[in-house]
Amino acid sequence: MSRRVSFFLCLFIVLGLVSITHNSVRGDSEYVGSEACKDCHEAYYNKFAKSIHGKKAIPGAPINRDGCESCHGPGAQHVEKGGGRGIAILIFNRKENPNTRDSKCLACHENMRGVANWNISRHKTAGISCDMCHSIHMAKEQKDLLKEMEPALCFGCHKNIRAQTNKQSHHPMKEAFVGRQALKCSSCHNSMGTSNIKAMIKADSVNDLCYNCHAEKRGPYAFEHPPVPENCLFCHEIHGSNHAKLLVRRVPFLCQSCHNAGRHPGTPYTNLHSSGGPATSGKNRFFGRGCLNCHGNIHGSSLSEFFAR
Ligand code: HEC
Ligand code: HEC
Ligand code: HEC
Ligand code: HEC
Ligand code: HEC
Ligand code: HEC
Ligand code: HEC
Ligand code: HEC
Ligand code: HEC
Ligand code: HEC
Repeated sequence: MSRRVSFFLCLFIVLGLVSITHNSVRGDSEYVGSEACKDCHEAYYNKFAKSIHGKKAIPGAPINRDGCESCHGPGAQHVEKGGGRGIAILIFNRKENPNTRDSKCLACHENMRGVANWNISRHKTAGISCDMCHSIHMAKEQKDLLKEMEPALCFGCHKNIRAQTNKQSHHPMKEAFVGRQALKCSSCHNSMGTSNIKAMIKADSVNDLCYNCHAEKRGPYAFEHPPVPENCLFCHEIHGSNHAKLLVRRVPFLCQSCHNAGRHPGTPYTNLHSSGGPATSGKNRFFGRGCLNCHGNIHGSSLSEFFAR
């Protein structure tokens, strides 16, 4: 070997060593592999090996080989120092920046259907991170690795929605019923965001969402009731109401909020005039206040322009 070559070889080795020590001085750790973690975290290791993350891999993703460290970050320094809570290892607690925590998950999930709109989701902008709803090691709901079952998971932060679902009329979210599963919050919302920024609903508009399950309300009808195709929420609450059928107000007040004077004026149906006697007293001209007794097909009709039954 010529002198010159061996000089350069030495230079290389020296430079290499310098850069390694330099790295650890900067605080960068190295990858050591999951087997190293097993020594001290055997329970986590064994349980993880059987979990979906332990078993499945996204083909071709460079991060696959990193095992435990794909989420917790390189662990060499943690191991060298004999471990310890939060010592040179990412532990997903609230002190850690949500973006840092999310970035670990997004390294694999960014392009997965269902997660692709995370960056425009209300949860992301409110500083909520993946690990506040999901647990990798201690999920209560194995499907989708949720920390809690729905709707309890959501109620933990959305107390006002819980209050609404306790009202007399509500979508069946807490009860399964004959022949059908109970709805979940995620039947209508995607917590990871949707292309519809408004309330992260799984449709382009509120009405399209409702039609997914109440297709018959879409018609087509020869005679449409204009507020219906425009927005179901003119007349309905979504999460709960104290009036039957999730109505925002009781009939006839609901109708009278838009229809004041007609060929038969609205006033005779108010409390004041119509509740003065039994239905047969004559005072109660239109069978109490039941606009729906006559205008029964309130969502539209192909037979009657007045939506009569
Ligand atoms: C030499 C033993 C040892 C090795 C090897 C080791 N750890 Fe630890 N680790 C510990 C100890 C001890 C704690 C503190 C536990 C505690 O306080 O309950 C800890 C804490 C942690 C924590 C925080 C959890 C907590 O309860 O504080 C995480 C996350 C963690 N280790 C991940 C890893 C990963 C990933 C690896 C492999 C790269 C690894 N550890 C390798 C000993 C070790
Ligand atoms: C190394 C790549 C990788 C990382 C990092 C990763 N995941 Fe996954 N995750 C996967 C793969 C692969 C699957 C299985 C996908 C499948 O079955 O189609 C999966 C599945 C899931 C599932 C669905 C489970 C099910 O039952 O279908 C959830 C939820 C999930 N991951 C959440 C997370 C969260 C939260 C993080 C961050 C803490 C994370 N993942 C980090 C690769 C990863
Ligand atoms: C506010 C709670 C919440 C947050 C925050 C959240 N998720 Fe989810 N995630 C859910 C729920 C609920 C489901 C199951 C129902 C569904 O698919 O909408 C789910 C389902 C998933 C699935 C499986 C769905 C599929 O398409 O197969 C993956 C993967 C996932 N989440 C990853 C993530 C990642 C990555 C993050 C952070 C970037 C994250 N989640 C943030 C609540 C959340
Ligand atoms: C897919 C991402 C991911 C992988 C892979 C992963 N973890 Fe975790 N780990 C987390 C998250 C997120 C938490 C926070 C608690 C939770 O969600 O279960 C956590 C928590 C922990 C904790 C306890 C932290 C605490 O504060 O109590 C330990 C210990 C731990 N992981 C060890 C491991 C070991 C060992 C492996 C490999 C066998 C591993 N993890 C693989 C995401 C991951
Ligand atoms: C860790 C707390 C937390 C959990 C758990 C959580 N959320 Fe949220 N959510 C928030 C915060 C904070 C906001 C933003 C502020 C607000 O609008 O209340 C938000 C916003 C929302 C919004 C949008 C509101 C708007 O005005 O656009 C919807 C919809 C929503 N969450 C649904 C859910 C569903 C469904 C679940 C359960 C799968 C859930 N959230 C779980 C904290 C949480
Ligand atoms: C039948 C469909 C459906 C179900 C089920 C549903 N939501 Fe909603 N939710 C909606 C629609 C539609 C909106 C948007 C209303 C609007 O555009 O004003 C909304 C709005 C919201 C908002 C923001 C506005 C507000 O009222 O604060 C939150 C938060 C929310 N939902 C949480 C939840 C939670 C938590 C659950 C489960 C308990 C749930 N939703 C179940 C359809 C639904
Ligand atoms: C994921 C399916 C689904 C979606 C989306 C949905 N609903 Fe429902 N809705 C149901 C189910 C299930 C019931 C239970 C009653 C039944 O079908 O027998 C119900 C019941 C109702 C009721 C009657 C409540 C009662 O007290 O009897 C009204 C009103 C209603 N939905 C309006 C809406 C509106 C408005 C929307 C859009 C914001 C909507 N729904 C979206 C599934 C859905
Ligand atoms: C002009 C007010 C109004 C609008 C707008 C409206 N509804 Fe209704 N809806 C009612 C009334 C009133 C009832 C009660 C009917 C009864 O008790 O016979 C009702 C009942 C319902 C019911 C339960 C009974 C049934 O007929 O199945 C569902 C489901 C429903 N509406 C869905 C929708 C959907 C979906 C939309 C939007 C496409 C919508 N509604 C728009 C007034 C309205
Ligand atoms: C959000 C406003 C709104 C509500 C609430 C509403 N309507 Fe209407 N309704 C309209 C509009 C707009 C028309 C179209 C005719 C018009 O311009 O007067 C219409 C048309 C009608 C027609 C046909 C009249 C015609 O001239 O063709 C009847 C009948 C009717 N509504 C009954 C009801 C009843 C009964 C209720 C209560 C269950 C009700 N409406 C609630 C807005 C409303
Ligand atoms: C006893 C049956 C009956 C009851 C109850 C009834 N209507 Fe009517 N309504 C009719 C008939 C029939 C017509 C068609 C009138 C005509 O052809 O002159 C009509 C027409 C209408 C029209 C359209 C014509 C106009 O006047 O502009 C509206 C709006 C209307 N009703 C609203 C209501 C409201 C709101 C209620 C409840 C407060 C109600 N109706 C209760 C039978 C009834």
